Amino acid sequence: MNIFRTKPIDSLIEETKNDGGLNKVLGTFGLTMLGIGAIVGTGIFVLTGVAAANYSGPALVISFIIAGIACACSALCYSEFAAMVPVAGSAYTYGYTALGEFWAWIIGWDLVLEYAFAIGTVSIGWSGYMDNILSSFGINLPHSILTTPFEGGIINLPAVCIIAVITFIHVIGVKQSTTVNNIIVVIKLAVVVMFIALGVNHVNTANWHPFMPYGFGGVVQGASVIFFAYIGFDAVSTAAEEVKDPQKDLPRGIILSLIVCTVLYIAVSAILTGMVPYLKFKTTAAPVAFALQSVGYHWGAALVSVGAICGLTSVLIVMMFGQTRVLFAMSRDGLLPKMFGHVNRRTKTPVRSTLLVGVVTSVVAGFLPINIVSELTNIGTLCAFMIVAAAVLVLRKKDPERKRAFKCPWVPTIPILAIVFCAALIYKLPYVTQIRFVIWLILGLIIYFGYGYKHSVITNDVDNKSA
Ligand code: ALA
Repeated sequence: MNIFRTKPIDSLIEETKNDGGLNKVLGTFGLTMLGIGAIVGTGIFVLTGVAAANYSGPALVISFIIAGIACACSALCYSEFAAMVPVAGSAYTYGYTALGEFWAWIIGWDLVLEYAFAIGTVSIGWSGYMDNILSSFGINLPHSILTTPFEGGIINLPAVCIIAVITFIHVIGVKQSTTVNNIIVVIKLAVVVMFIALGVNHVNTANWHPFMPYGFGGVVQGASVIFFAYIGFDAVSTAAEEVKDPQKDLPRGIILSLIVCTVLYIAVSAILTGMVPYLKFKTTAAPVAFALQSVGYHWGAALVSVGAICGLTSVLIVMMFGQTRVLFAMSRDGLLPKMFGHVNRRTKTPVRSTLLVGVVTSVVAGFLPINIVSELTNIGTLCAFMIVAAAVLVLRKKDPERKRAFKCPWVPTIPILAIVFCAALIYKLPYVTQIRFVIWLILGLIIYFGYGYKHSVITNDVDNKSA
């Protein structure tokens, strides 16, 4: 029994050459826009309020810096792999080459959690901003169809509706074109910059005191919540096979998109907590618009809400795409049943797995509150980041001669820092989230040993050869 069987990098790259179908059109600019399109969403537009009110207080900006360091170190590790193994499948594939099938499965299983629950989180954020817009037109939806049973309601209906729309878009196979993505990114960035420009004159430094009402522990806990805001730069690597010069463009795209977002996040979080006393964020699902409203910029709040709705929709499209791609890759390798890789002949899209993802994420978004859903996304992603960082260390030892078009600097320090920071953020997530994650992993192990190991394409190949 060999659960650590690896996939050879060279044959993976060869496979994609034979494929030949994908258009290699993306350069550094397109990739950076793709990254920003996937990154800026519920994290900055919604979770900033949750984190400021409950964990970080005005020290939200420090939380963003801590989470930013964890992501920067992880992004450098990702970049080394993305340049070396420029094939779709992202971290799951990296794990397969460096650490073997078992760890690849764990990463893939974590990514399934990351994407499914990110879709849930972002659609809940979408619902909050939609409600904000509707109420500014005097349309007030009843509380019972805006909140989950956990919050005294019945269902978060707008969240379910937007997932249904996104699922439909994916089923019929409308791909978000690069142009549409670029337009949405420009709108999204414009509203964020507008918020900074309007808000900076309304910062009342008295609101920054006390700076850390919940102590430094609270600030790190806040970092583990708003870590969500950075998720998405890893999605850049899933476009690997559509990039003109992946060895140069991929690391640049990943790192540039992360830098742009980090700078904006730091500015937004400092201004947000300066405009409004942090405790006031307890009751709003649209904190960025709320802050502008509270200093009298109603038109600004309306524009932010419209920008947020556009931005969140594009994050949803990327996440749904990422989810079906990961399931597809795992099923192609035999680790999941063929159904997940089945492509509909007429639409040329993975209809069945898309519908399944749509149903599961609707249930998640409709009936669970945002904190539960976002924390599970974070823990899954953090775990995947840790394994990728470990994979960099392992592959440097196992295959030191391999050409690395982009080398993560200061190895082993950076990968070790990535592991330590991600582990600290996992540690700071609520105990109940950790338990839920362990249950998720156990479920994953049952599926792997009950199904994946036996059906793995590599295992079967080797068995056939040795037979
Ligand atoms: N980082 C993305 C967001 O904040 C997932 O919505």
